[in-house]
Amino acid sequence: MIPDSLSSGHSKSEEQHRRDICIAGRWMYERGFIVACEGNLSVRLEDGRILTTPTCMNKGILDPGDLVVTDSNGRQLAGDRKVSSELDMHLLFYRMRPDVQAVCHAHPPTATGFAVAGRSLNQALLPEVIVGLGQIPLVQYATPGTPELSASLEPFVPHYDALLLANHGAVTCGPDLLTAFFRMETIEHSAKITLAAELAGEPVLLSGREVAKLMAARPRYFVSPPPGGGAELPITSDGGETTDDDVKLTRSELDALIDEAVRKDRNRR
Ligand code: 13P
Repeated sequence: MIPDSLSSGHSKSEEQHRRDICIAGRWMYERGFIVACEGNLSVRLEDGRILTTPTCMNKGILDPGDLVVTDSNGRQLAGDRKVSSELDMHLLFYRMRPDVQAVCHAHPPTATGFAVAGRSLNQALLPEVIVGLGQIPLVQYATPGTPELSASLEPFVPHYDALLLANHGAVTCGPDLLTAFFRMETIEHSAKITLAAELAGEPVLLSGREVAKLMAARPRYFVSPPPGGGAELPITSDGGETTDDDVKLTRSELDALIDEAVRKDRNRR
């Protein structure tokens, strides 16, 4: 069950955010997305301060008092423990994405397996993933916790809500912690299904027309893509790799978009 505080969108006290981070840390640990002292979580508080997990602790058994508060530049303002070694990666999201209020980093094993194999999750396979995330690109390897990792991430952050980190793990962001956590779950679930499909046979990609219909359906699922636009769409059975900014439509894709618009208009009446 999702605790009330995590599920509601109302404005929260720092205490509630502290409890939410501990719950999300426990979920990540229980689902095997992290082991030992891996992973980190943060939330941007209403006044712009950052509430984050401490370094070198198991994130599944944190107490609210273990968390650390920093300013938007990462200067520690409160907390007895040391901040996460990967705080700079979180700060990059907050700096580049005013819409982002929470960041989640973990090493979910199947998705990380793809990242270690040098593979992104960029194929048009699952409607929920396409609607929710478009695709999940792979960010080039750089040493965790260094400015080089932030430099690798920078070109992707404005355009994507979920990323694989080569030879490392995954990072997600969202307008709240629950959304960022769900995106991490979606990455791992999608990686598991992709792997199962590859073991079962040859995965069947959706067509560009089907992907266009799913993109057109995003408002129905209350999905707002990253405000930066420009995300690459997943690879389809007809091989079309396009971007949000530069969409080439076949006649049938255009028909699908018109169908969706007409359907929406009918529902409104
Ligand atoms: P921290 O404990 O410093 O947050 O680091 C955990 C981690 O996942 C390193 O990749």
